[in-house]
Amino acid sequence: MGKKLYIANWKSHKKTEEALDFLDELKKKIHTVDLSDKEIIIAPPFTLLCVLKDFIDKHSLPIKLAGQDVSSFPEGAYTGEVAAQQLKEFCNYVIIGHSERKRYQHETESEIQNKVDEAKREGLTVVLCVQGEKSHLYKEADIIAFEPPSAISTFGVGDPEDPKEIEEVFNSIREDMSSTKLLYGGSVSVDNISQYKAIPHCSGFLIGSASLDPHSFIELLK
Ligand code: PGA
Repeated sequence: MGKKLYIANWKSHKKTEEALDFLDELKKKIHTVDLSDKEIIIAPPFTLLCVLKDFIDKHSLPIKLAGQDVSSFPEGAYTGEVAAQQLKEFCNYVIIGHSERKRYQHETESEIQNKVDEAKREGLTVVLCVQGEKSHLYKEADIIAFEPPSAISTFGVGDPEDPKEIEEVFNSIREDMSSTKLLYGGSVSVDNISQYKAIPHCSGFLIGSASLDPHSFIELLK
């Protein structure tokens, strides 16, 4: 099945000093984690990509970076957008279609389609967030993250999904796609991660709140 992916989605959290403190702490404790079966990916705000990449490269840390989003346009006159070509300087991965973007930025299916196209053209690994609905976009994603809105901690409900439900969604996606990696995201914590790890076809996790504190993130990795 390959390595399990642990994607830390920092959302709109952390400034430079906090991000560097986090990495410093991770650097001190990383030897306590068995990394033979895990891949660590941090998705920071765009403002931190450069400083995080410098730190990771300088200390040869086994951490990859992801964009939390990407422009649906190529490089050009699109004020406020970050194009896939620019993201590629720092990241191997990009998260597309997160339910917070659908809720707050009203992202549409066609915008998401364009983002996927832009990311793929630049060779970024696409982590497509889905809420369980069937979509033709599934087959274009490298990784599918199932994140039911009711389970997202920051939406106020934060009701972690029942592993049985996740298994059913994974099975139905698996019917169409046999090799895409499947992740679960939604209030994953140190207390509940072991039940999610046991779900067949689960290739890892998209972790929000519990990824912000280096100590809890290390515990999750363990
Ligand atoms: P959460 O976020 O872990 O804070 O619920 C998960 C996500 O963004 O998918």
